[in-house]
Amino acid sequence: MPHLLQIQGLRTNFESDRGVAKAVDCVDLAIDEGQTLGLVGESGCGKSVLALSILRLISPPGRVSGGSILFEGRDLLQLPERHMRSVRGNRIGLIFQEPASALNPVLSVGFQVAEVLMIHRGLARREAMQRAIELFRVVSIPEPERRVREYAHQLSGGLQQRVMIAIALACSPSLLIADEATTALDVTIQAQILDLLRRLRKEYRLALLLISHDLGVIAEMADRVAVMYAGKIVEEAPVRELFRSPRHPYTAGLLRSIPTRDDTGESPRRLHAIQGNVPDLTQLPPGCAFHPRCPDVMDHCRTRGPSLDNGPGGTRVACFKYE
Ligand SMILES: Nc1ncnc2c1ncn2[C@@H]1O[C@H](COP(=O)(O)OP(=O)(O)OP(=O)(O)O)[C@@H](O)[C@H]1O
Ligand SMILES: [Mg+2]
Repeated sequence: MPHLLQIQGLRTNFESDRGVAKAVDCVDLAIDEGQTLGLVGESGCGKSVLALSILRLISPPGRVSGGSILFEGRDLLQLPERHMRSVRGNRIGLIFQEPASALNPVLSVGFQVAEVLMIHRGLARREAMQRAIELFRVVSIPEPERRVREYAHQLSGGLQQRVMIAIALACSPSLLIADEATTALDVTIQAQILDLLRRLRKEYRLALLLISHDLGVIAEMADRVAVMYAGKIVEEAPVRELFRSPRHPYTAGLLRSIPTRDDTGESPRRLHAIQGNVPDLTQLPPGCAFHPRCPDVMDHCRTRGPSLDNGPGGTRVACFKYE
């Protein structure tokens, strides 16, 4: 069966007087129906740019400069803008970190759900509002009949994120992109939103592209994990494989940076951040972009970049250690 989403050779650049930042550099990724792909990597490595490129929401100075994004049998990069508009919100939903900034402050939250149904499904206002109430129930917003009439500022961050999920789900998309969707929420609310996503994923066979800094969230939710560094995918593997035996030195470093409890289970152990800093994408070092920070660096890593090669059990890694 073809993949639900298949990205091939995707490149997105940002041009400035400082040079060209290759925020997404020749990325290949696939997601199957109902599958959750976790995407991790340090700040600035290109995760959000990748998500926005899929939805064709990159604006100047950014530009998608190559590749293809096959989704439900069509290349999104070739679609006329009006068809793309119906893909957004209709077939692919997006939720991100700041629900408050995504919601319109002067429209009731219920109307914002209804509006999507009026635009994409041609429902009349009354029907659409009725459906909004049902969707509020689906995302477990208490007292939906009352809540639909409220405004964003009257809702907690957790409820605002549920409204965003209701909007994203209104037209039964097959793919939901969640970009740090629970990062700003406190731990209890975060757990509730993740539970909700898990339930929706099962009930609607929803595929999920889950972007998160939080490896704990990824470990709990993802089927497969892709690790991004300086615009490139450096490793991809089934979630258990990746956490049990990370292959790329960068992945290993990320996993070590998860704060864990020491043997007594009392105080959180020291956080092992990876040495060095994320490179400026306009000034990448030659060879493998990770080499200045890599504990396993070899001579040729400084001059040549490794390709992302297939390994055993559906894994991929871009590192000369495995050539
Ligand atoms: N509006 C912009 N103008 C110029 N460059 C940009 C812009 N947005 C992104 N970039 C470039 O793209 C790179 C990747 O940004 P992106 O927002 O995708 O990072 P991220 O992985 O989502 O980080 P975070 O974890 O902090 O959300 C940045 O490091 C920057 O070089
Ligand atoms: Mg981001």
